[in-house]
Parts: sequence; C-alpha cells; structure tokens
Amino acid sequence: MAYYKITGGKRLEGAVTISGAKNAALAIIPAAILCGESCLLENLPAIEDVRIVEQILQSMGAEVEHTPDGSLRLDPSGINSYSVTGEMVSSLRASYYLLGALLGRYKKAEIALPGGCAIGQRPIDQHIKGMRALGADIVIQGGAVKASAEKLVGAEIYLDVVSVGATINIMMAAVGAEGTTIIANAAKEPHVVDVANFLNMMGANVKGAGTDVIRIQGGRKLHGCTYAVIPDQIEAGTFMIAAAATGGDVVINNVIPTHLEAISAKLMESGVSVTEGDDGREFFIRVTADKRPRAVNIKTLPYPGFPTDLQQPMMAFLAAAQGNSFVVENIFEDRFNHVPELAKMGANIHLNARTAMIEGVEKLYGAPLVASDLRAGAALIVAALAAEGTSTIRNIRFIDRGYEFIEHKFKALGADIERIEE
Ligand code: UD1
Repeated sequence: MAYYKITGGKRLEGAVTISGAKNAALAIIPAAILCGESCLLENLPAIEDVRIVEQILQSMGAEVEHTPDGSLRLDPSGINSYSVTGEMVSSLRASYYLLGALLGRYKKAEIALPGGCAIGQRPIDQHIKGMRALGADIVIQGGAVKASAEKLVGAEIYLDVVSVGATINIMMAAVGAEGTTIIANAAKEPHVVDVANFLNMMGANVKGAGTDVIRIQGGRKLHGCTYAVIPDQIEAGTFMIAAAATGGDVVINNVIPTHLEAISAKLMESGVSVTEGDDGREFFIRVTADKRPRAVNIKTLPYPGFPTDLQQPMMAFLAAAQGNSFVVENIFEDRFNHVPELAKMGANIHLNARTAMIEGVEKLYGAPLVASDLRAGAALIVAALAAEGTSTIRNIRFIDRGYEFIEHKFKALGADIERIEE
C-alpha cells in the first residue's frame, strides 16, 4: 500500500496545469453509449475512477483504445451486456450513469447500487423518480437497480433536491425518449453543462443546461463525435487553496475562471490575492499569499455556491487562519471525517451537526494521518503542505481516484512530497 510523506512549510511557487474534470468525464464516457458509434474523448484525466469506468465499458463489449496523445477512442457498438454488477461497479459513485445511458439507448439496464465516498446516505431516489416518469419499470433487487421499458416518453420532472447525478442521468435517458422532457430544479454545475454539450455534439437537442430548467427534445438519431472535457473545477480549487495555505505564489493554467468564482471570492475575503488572466491560449488564475489569512465563513451550496467538494480542503486552510471561521455543510450530512485528522495536527475544530467552528491556530504540525475519502485526502495534503514538520497520509487510494499525478504537480511547485510504496 502506498502512502504520502510530506514535509510542510515550503512556499508553493510556479505554475500548474489543471487536468480534465473528473465528474464530467465519469458522465461523458457512459453517455457515449447513447450514440452507438465511435467517439474520441479528449482531455480525460488519468485517474483511477476513469480507468474503472473504461474497464466496465470494456467488460460490456465496448472497444476502448488510448491514443498516443492521451485521448480515448470509445466504440460502444459492440455492447452486448446491459447488466453491470460486481465490485468494480459498486465501488464507484458514477456507475449510476450507466443506468441513464443504457436505458436511453437499449431500454434496459441492471446496475449494482452505486458506492463512492462515505460522506452521507447518498440516495438515488431522484434518479429513479426521473426514469419512472419517462416510463421505465424499476425495481431494486439483490443490491442492483433493474430498469426496463417498452419505450421511453418525455415527461416533466421536478427534482425534490438539486442533484447533479439525477440531473445528468435523467438528461441521458431523456435523449433516448420520444418527445420533450423538462427537468425543473435541475443542477447547474459546470459538468452538467459539459455533458449537455457532449450530448448536443452527438446530435441531441438539450437546451437550458446551466439554468435550473433543462429541456430535452428526445428521439433524435445520434452520431459519434470528438469532444474535449472541461478543466476540473475542484482540482483547480484544491491547488488554489494549497497555494494560499502555504503563503505561495502559483499560476494555475487551463481553468475556467467563472467556475471558480466562489473559491476566488472566499480566498480574497481571507486576504489572499487572486487574479485572472488569459495568455492567448487559455485562461489562468494566479494566487498569491504572503500573510496569515483571516477567518471566513463558508456555506456549501449547489453551483454557483461554494462547492461541497472543496469544503474539506478549505477547512484545512482555515485551521491556521486568524480568528474563528464557521463552515456549514449543506449538501452531505457526514462530510467532516477529515476533522479528527486535522485535530492530530493541532487544529481546533468544534463540530455540531452540519456546522464546524474552527478556532484558527497559529500553526499546524505534521502528524501521521489517514484519508477517509477523496476530498478528505486532498484536505490532508493541503494541511500537511502548510504544516511545520513531516506528515504521512495513508489510504491514498482515495486520492488516486480523483487527482491526476497530484504528487508530481505539487513537487513541481516546490513541495516536499513523496509517494512511498510499502
Ligand atoms: C456529485 C459528485 C460529487 C459532488 C456532488 C455535489 C460525481 C460522481 N459526484 O455527487 O463529487 O460532491 O455531486 O456537487 O459527479 N440526493 C438525494 N436523492 C438523489 C440524489 C441526491 O436525496 O436521488 C441528495 C444527496 O444525498 C445530496 C444532494 O442530493 O445530499 C446532492 O447530491 P448529488 O448532487 O446528487 O451528488 P452526487 O451526484 O452523489
């Protein structure tokens, strides 16, 4: 088992390039099933979750080929299995997208109930409600969701909670339905828009993605296409926060600054300088910090609010801020598993249900740490980079799921981080 050894206290300096968005990639790969033809997917991140989705599609009969420039050629025409169960599927949250994609294309699917990070209950009732509204029969049996339909017919679906997963999944199934589907109270995250753009590139008619009402005109003939996934908002935010936490000066390349406004605003409120630029090829953000940050309050919200996926890294940053910060986690009910680990480093954090009160300490100190989930792992890296002394972080398989070459990227910024294989 590998672990990270990090000696903190080094100011991060230099430039880093952000990879393709994990949560967009994990939806776009299964969405390619809908067209039944070969697609070339560019800017996919080389992360464990993407490898797992590729393997799942291969096991179903799809052809998957990596091109020399790092893109993926995916040909779903040979798919001959609509049942995907087993450990690989249940380990992954995003496996639920196979439901929408298979149902949309073949009108049948059997998918193991999704796993993913243990950060709350994470039900899929809204996905199921949406598919049922389109005419699918759905039962949950033996740990799997079984869905089938004679045909799917467009419907008006109001989501009871703003769910990224349900919005994307219903959008995919609706592309394979006859007539118009309207998703109201839809999620507006950048990856919802990215998936809609990909669907449209294949010939679908999806309008309104990025607003809270999405309209899908289904039943069109789709075709293969070439598509480049957007840059990862959460990876970019993680590097922004790490730069700020180490009093660094980092240029973050290949970003979409509007996707990062909530993070930029909070970092600036804490006294960090965040500037945006365009080098003629791509947008970049520069984060510069030279003094102890001020405490700020955070409430996680659906986009364009502060993303829950950056709540944990942000808490690592605020642990050593001047003053008291309040952090309210509104999306997931159990996303504070990083707190006992930060406490081992000297952080002073009081939890009460979904609220954390952080009494900023002068400094964090290195400690032996264990990652409980993906973004908790990212938070511990941020804390260890900023802390005095050496930390070890175990369970880094969680981090491998969602961050491409993270130790190489931090090393290139001057961090003292080593991946040690035991
Ligand atoms: C996705 C992301 C995850 C991110 C989250 C919120 C992927 C693979 N994962 O997760 O990184 O943290 O969005 O931005 O893209 N809910 C229900 N019923 C449902 C669906 C969701 O009650 O059917 C609830 C959830 O429990 C949660 C909230 O709605 O409280 C938002 O969940 P959702 O946006 O669906 O998150 P995920 O798709 O699981």
